[in-house]
Amino acid sequence: MLSFDFNNLFEGRIGDKGITAEEFEAVLRMAPKMHEGIVIDRPNRKWRELPYVSRELIEDIKATAGKIRENFESFIVVGIGGSALGAKALFTGLMHPRHNELPKEKRNAPKFYVTDNVDPDGLNAVLDVIDIKKTAINVISKSGNTVETMSQFMMLAGKMQEAGIKDLKDRIVITTDVENGNLRKIVNEYGFKSYVVPAGVGGRFSVLSEVGLLPAAVLGLDIDALFKGASDMDKLASDPDVFKNPAYMYALTHYAAMKKGMTISLMMPYSDRLYNLALWYVQLWAESLGKKFNKAGKVVNVGQTPMAALGVTDQHSSVQLFTEGPYDKITTFIGVENNNTELEISDVDLNMFDAEYLKGQSFNKLFASERDATEYAFKKENRASLRIRMDKVSEYNIAAVMYMLEVAVSAVGQLLSIDAFDQPGVEAGKIATFAYMGRKGYEEKYRELTSPIESDPKLIIKI
Ligand code: PA5
Repeated sequence: MLSFDFNNLFEGRIGDKGITAEEFEAVLRMAPKMHEGIVIDRPNRKWRELPYVSRELIEDIKATAGKIRENFESFIVVGIGGSALGAKALFTGLMHPRHNELPKEKRNAPKFYVTDNVDPDGLNAVLDVIDIKKTAINVISKSGNTVETMSQFMMLAGKMQEAGIKDLKDRIVITTDVENGNLRKIVNEYGFKSYVVPAGVGGRFSVLSEVGLLPAAVLGLDIDALFKGASDMDKLASDPDVFKNPAYMYALTHYAAMKKGMTISLMMPYSDRLYNLALWYVQLWAESLGKKFNKAGKVVNVGQTPMAALGVTDQHSSVQLFTEGPYDKITTFIGVENNNTELEISDVDLNMFDAEYLKGQSFNKLFASERDATEYAFKKENRASLRIRMDKVSEYNIAAVMYMLEVAVSAVGQLLSIDAFDQPGVEAGKIATFAYMGRKGYEEKYRELTSPIESDPKLIIKI
């Protein structure tokens, strides 16, 4: 069971702070052209075909994963952005929430790390808890040049060599472009086992490609269920009838909300497991829609700022702002009907005074009640929200939601008439980092970056 309920976005439920009938009619008139744009563009969007990849590839991935599962204690995904966030979302969504802390016999998969950041404290912390001799890594970069990924690859491969490991080939797998980029050169030179980030699949759309699948297979996840969820959603998300297509409804309501001043799209799962899914969404929505130019080359500076919050934790933090601050947010609540486990609030033999009512009740009921209570509080304050509900956190449901959001973001791209698939703003930062780090060919950029700029001393405050 997976459902999408858009009722609380509309004026019928939340008055004129919601999308009005006229406003929705106006965006509905844009739907046929939006759909046509998506259909015409589909052949360029290879990520749409990912749920249908060949059996042969899946078997190959499973075989590689099988060797890693058998021979290694830890597995590190080395990648950043779209090369990391999908694997993180699958890991936290579908594995035991304390996977790495479980004893080996209860773990059923290697310890799992995603080392996207290059903060030396974070990296050293991982080195402190793994045994490098018992560690395999999957280096993932579509461009094959990303500095964070390359530097970590070098560091980890170096540590392996220092530990006396002669052949790195049985413990390093590389996922990158089929022919371009530095990583591909390294594969060709040394014969590392490699997988391909398919052409036409950008990082943030790559979770169901080899990028997400090898980590998923190492974790022992059900890849067929991932594909089934995504392909079932592909069918729904291809329907031109907006009221049967959750991706189109998501896109059109978000577009209408943007027009109405809701410049922030908040995703708030009531599930620890799904918090990384919300962070994956933040990247998808931000990198795809935050654009300076439209397709005609005109400066438009558009976008809708995505945010993630966690229920119930953020009820005691940002929910105050969400319910009483400006009407600038459209919220997606994600709720899970059945947690994987049950837990009782003990009928403890102590007088709990005003908290007596909790005795013998369950955390499952408390968690669900707080979720429903927050949705109610939003509605009462006329805050626009929609609800995604799943029966449980499963491969099928996660993949279906991810695929729905990928189609939705493409549809908003059509409505805004922007290219939702590039990320020139990210590229600018990558290029500046190459220059600071002394990469050949970036000398001119380095001069530009380091040419002195005058600072007003009044604006610098020191203790
Ligand atoms: O979604 C994207 O395209 C980006 O977030 C990239 O995944 C990220 O910048 C890493 O790039 P690469 O995979 O080339 O190392």
